[in-house]
Amino acid sequence: MRPLFIAGNWKMNPGTAEDAVALAEAIKVGVGQETRVRVALCPPSVFLQAVDGVLENSPIGLGGQNMHWKTDGAYTGELSGAMLVDSGCTHVILGHSERRHGLGETDHQVNDKLKAALAIQLIPIVCVGETLVEREAGKTDEVVGTQLENSLAEITAEQMCGIVLAYEPVWAIGTGKTATPAHAQHVHLFIRNLLRETFNAATAARVVVLYGGSVKPDNAADLLACPDIDGALVGGASLKASDFLGIIQAGQAVTAKGKA
Ligand code: 13P
Repeated sequence: MRPLFIAGNWKMNPGTAEDAVALAEAIKVGVGQETRVRVALCPPSVFLQAVDGVLENSPIGLGGQNMHWKTDGAYTGELSGAMLVDSGCTHVILGHSERRHGLGETDHQVNDKLKAALAIQLIPIVCVGETLVEREAGKTDEVVGTQLENSLAEITAEQMCGIVLAYEPVWAIGTGKTATPAHAQHVHLFIRNLLRETFNAATAARVVVLYGGSVKPDNAADLLACPDIDGALVGGASLKASDFLGIIQAGQAVTAKGKA
């Protein structure tokens, strides 16, 4: 089945390389060689190499928070997938709502980035999610469905098995308002059904779908126990080692009870 996967999205934090190294070290010590729950850290790009150094001999993966779809060229301020790989990355977050809504990133761009990430063998974490206005208008499934359909255009079933999806309702990100396990499970099941219709049942059963949005140590167990929630993409709580480790421990407990 699908092993749980907990990824920390540090966003534009912490403020210094020293603090980034200290945070990664504390998480590395806490995780040890435990691999029942897979873990990855996604620091700001300027700290990737330093954090990669810390994560040597650790099962923890390293992810970028974004990349460009071109391999090189005159794209000021951008990073290529090859640069992420050279910095030690195994993963890359694509289409985060803070980029979609704050910076105008489109489904089409996410699709181009996805193809570029797969070409360089980075594991993409593709984010989707509805805004509060869309949720209140009853459009959650429609919005998430359209984002997925467009972001995953021209992807094969084989490629899809290597792509991680993250459902992050925009209204739950950084607000302290977590989706209830029932709401999150509803959308995750919707996503899995869509994967079955678009690809096939075997592919739908294999794709790891994370939940993101105010995941904390005290709500992680209930979310992670849902049958179609395969892990968490954690923002704020990934900046404090004890909180992030608490979420990983919740995942380990859920796994030990027989999930995955
Ligand atoms: P918070 O956990 O801070 O709500 O952020 C979620 C998120 O955006 C992870 O990518």
